[in-house]
Amino acid sequence: MRGWEWRPTLEPSDHEPLFEQIARSIAGDIRRGRLKPGERLPSSRKIAEALGVHRNTALSAYGELEAQGWIEARPSSGTYVSSALPVIKPKSFASPALDRGAMPERPCFALKEIEAPMISAPVGRGELSMAGGLPDLRLIPTEELARAWRRAVRRGGGELMGYADPQGHPRLRAALAQMLSTTRGVAASPEHIMVTRGSQMALYLTAHALLDPGDRVAIEAHGYPAAWTALRSAGATLVPVPVDGRGLDVEALAAVVREGPIKAVYVTPHHQYPTMAVLDAGRRLELLALARAEGFAIIEDDYDNEFHYEGRPVLPLASADRHGAVIYIGTLSKVLAPALRVGYAVAPAPVIAALGALRATIDRQGDQATEAALAELIEDDAIQRHARRIRRIYRARRERLAQELREHLPDVLDFQIPSGGLSLWAACAPEVDPERWAERAASQGVLFWPARRYDFQQRPLPFVRLGFAALDEDEIRRAVQIMKRALPCNP
Ligand SMILES: Cc1ncc(COP(=O)(O)O)c(C=O)c1O
Repeated sequence: MRGWEWRPTLEPSDHEPLFEQIARSIAGDIRRGRLKPGERLPSSRKIAEALGVHRNTALSAYGELEAQGWIEARPSSGTYVSSALPVIKPKSFASPALDRGAMPERPCFALKEIEAPMISAPVGRGELSMAGGLPDLRLIPTEELARAWRRAVRRGGGELMGYADPQGHPRLRAALAQMLSTTRGVAASPEHIMVTRGSQMALYLTAHALLDPGDRVAIEAHGYPAAWTALRSAGATLVPVPVDGRGLDVEALAAVVREGPIKAVYVTPHHQYPTMAVLDAGRRLELLALARAEGFAIIEDDYDNEFHYEGRPVLPLASADRHGAVIYIGTLSKVLAPALRVGYAVAPAPVIAALGALRATIDRQGDQATEAALAELIEDDAIQRHARRIRRIYRARRERLAQELREHLPDVLDFQIPSGGLSLWAACAPEVDPERWAERAASQGVLFWPARRYDFQQRPLPFVRLGFAALDEDEIRRAVQIMKRALPCNP
């Protein structure tokens, strides 16, 4: 009896006699491990005295516990917690022959065909990845993030742990609104902002809020396949529009619109994905005018806005939109960390309300603690400070990659140094098959993607995309040496 402090609360009840209440309470302590198998229990007399009940009530409680197998009476010794406690075994309702315990291989009902987006596999240990345009995860200010998260949870208390606004934590929406208006010229208030789990969710919600099956949506002919999957999931028919060194060919887009109406165009104007071309000023104005005249939406994916290395960044289309044409999508995946899953959509309030309603249907709300912590980091300028720091580092890495490629692969790759972003787009010499090259390099631990991966028609175009941000300068040097060794021919 040493150590076991038993304090049941017994209440007069019409439904549960006292002996059952006592038995339930003792069984609860055994189940929770407060009473261990083989441990001795007080005598029924002591129980009766302690609880002020008749001894027969205590004896009935012990009788019940013994019948259920929780305790055992040992003659001339006392009452003990059973050393063979009852194990709760679910009872199968099927015959033993049928009940083999294995999950059936297939459902017995029809499943729709679901298109999986093309997403990057996690980078393996020891691999040098130039694929995907990832940031360097080693530079993430994890300590600062952890402190902000702890502060947010402490201060937010229970309120932060409850159901909340599907459009995002108000403090983060306010912080983003402030940041977007001061650094990107986007005049947004909190009601124009929805915080999402990465830009992927923003793209998915936008597609489902906007499109009916069969609606035509224009996309960049080399582009971001995960966005295409999101658009197709809402039934879109995608129409590829060529891109060149000045970004999306807006004249070609106008020709597409003349053939038949489009509901939206998906574009990456800051750095065209994957070619890194900046959409030029003339085309920007033409695109906004065309959208206004034809009444379609511009889905602007500004995934790497923080990364510009030559002076001031070009402002987003959303900064010049006076007619509610643009749904602007941003992310913290590149500037901070992809695993945080924090992105945002910016648009006129009715659009945001629609996105919020859709989001609540599938996800209820975002992670309030993370959102509150990020709000604090934006208010304190910590994310912007981090962006300035990594911008300097990535700029040096961009230069290093260009230098290594010029030195070691001068006749193989032809490229322009991108003015920003985290990747470089390079043309391959005609005798090099980019796909075989990427395969051979991957087998030697260096990952990069050939152009076919980005082409809407999956054409084997003679280009490769090389990310420079995730590797330090020494790793870049090693990666280029391996790329050289992995060349499928000697040009
Ligand atoms: C074109 C483009 N948009 C958006 C993203 C970011 O996606 P998310 O915010 O869902 O992590 C990426 C990341 O690779 C991208 O390349």
